[in-house]
Amino acid sequence: MNHKRSDFPEGFQFGVATSSYQIEGHSFGGAGRTQWDDFAATPGNVVRAENGAVGCDHYHRMDEDLDLIAGLGVDTYRFSTSWARVLPEGRGAVNEAGLDFYDRLVDGLLERGINPAVTLYHWELPSPLNDAGGWRNRDIASWFGDYTETLMKRIGDRVWSVAPINEPWCVGWLSHFMGLHAPGLRDIRATARAMHHVLLAHGTAIQRMRGLGMNNLGAVCNFEWAAPIDDSPAAVAAAARYDAIYNRFFLGGIFKGEYPALALEGLEPHLPQGWQDDFGVITTPVDWSGLNYYTRKVVAPDDSPWPSYSEHTGDLPLTSMGWEIYPQGLHDLLMRMAREYTGDMPIYVTENGMSAPDQLSGGSVEDPHRVSYLNAHMDEIKKVIAAGVPLKGYYIWSLMDNYEWALGYEKRFGMIHVDFDTFERTPKQSYHALAAALRS
Ligand code: FCB
Repeated sequence: MNHKRSDFPEGFQFGVATSSYQIEGHSFGGAGRTQWDDFAATPGNVVRAENGAVGCDHYHRMDEDLDLIAGLGVDTYRFSTSWARVLPEGRGAVNEAGLDFYDRLVDGLLERGINPAVTLYHWELPSPLNDAGGWRNRDIASWFGDYTETLMKRIGDRVWSVAPINEPWCVGWLSHFMGLHAPGLRDIRATARAMHHVLLAHGTAIQRMRGLGMNNLGAVCNFEWAAPIDDSPAAVAAAARYDAIYNRFFLGGIFKGEYPALALEGLEPHLPQGWQDDFGVITTPVDWSGLNYYTRKVVAPDDSPWPSYSEHTGDLPLTSMGWEIYPQGLHDLLMRMAREYTGDMPIYVTENGMSAPDQLSGGSVEDPHRVSYLNAHMDEIKKVIAAGVPLKGYYIWSLMDNYEWALGYEKRFGMIHVDFDTFERTPKQSYHALAAALRS
């Protein structure tokens, strides 16, 4: 790598990230059924109808995986806990084996000198809660608060940081408007409600954890840079609508207690009554803000109903997800977040990385493309720090190849290669490169 630890400020956190449903093996250990099991079982939703029943078999290989994390020399491991593993029905009876599992995970990290960074929800909603309306039902905020307390009473004394929700845009828009993630709806009323309730759940969970005396609590949103397809006023306006829905809705809600006018234009008629009264909870102060970044989107106007835009791919190099590689977007989004929303509050890049068709050959995996991707994004991080933004850490997605949601096991994001027949783990070139950079 072109970078080494000593180039970054003292205490800067290097981390790797995963999530529960993508790696654990959700059929093990008494976990309940989730909306992703249902979504994947519905033909046409997921490549080869693959699901997270086995994942990377991390449930049975936790110690080996913890050793691999330690071998990287990272400071922090960002993982998520599954609501349905803790509360199989979403509410009521607790799965003690689930609590034990996360308890061992946290202790295993601490024993290895790694900070446990928890995310409480990375999309595997318990199916019974989906039956009850899922993110459309306002009660989800208190259900989520109860889950948060149940889990944090067990591990909250030892975790380093907590974020309630991973990527509210995905929970709301991607899953209820575009229909591309569970529960696979395409319904604007459901979308508006999910986008609002996910923020209400976020604020509720923060309040419950404050009640337990916890700190270092944050919010993790994903952002895409919105680039107009040309200079025409119509294209610029379309990109601004995209930006409002994708990025500014969530930042505005959490940090300003308001939604952007360009998003309300289409969503307001569908928001639940009295939505404005919820900002007191939604803006409950957090200690840090997390940003997940992968790519930009080129946006063009079109004459379909609101939001009246279409999404395009520009001419930059692509990852195997078909995502353009655009490091500048990370820089610009970080600068904007600090300037317009979060000020002096610490910021973390909580996910960044790329997928590629990496292959095992002769016992090793060469992924120079990933090393370049990480180098280029770390360049931007250095610039942002030099500009005075309080950026305190950088987490790479992902520790290992895993279940990439609707794209199944085909898209490999890991710094560790996983053979999905034998579950053998092989650190890739990028793993060794990062480990060397962090040692230096
Ligand atoms: C993010 C998700 C993560 C993974 C990466 C590629 O949006 O948080 O689970 O799918 O994208």
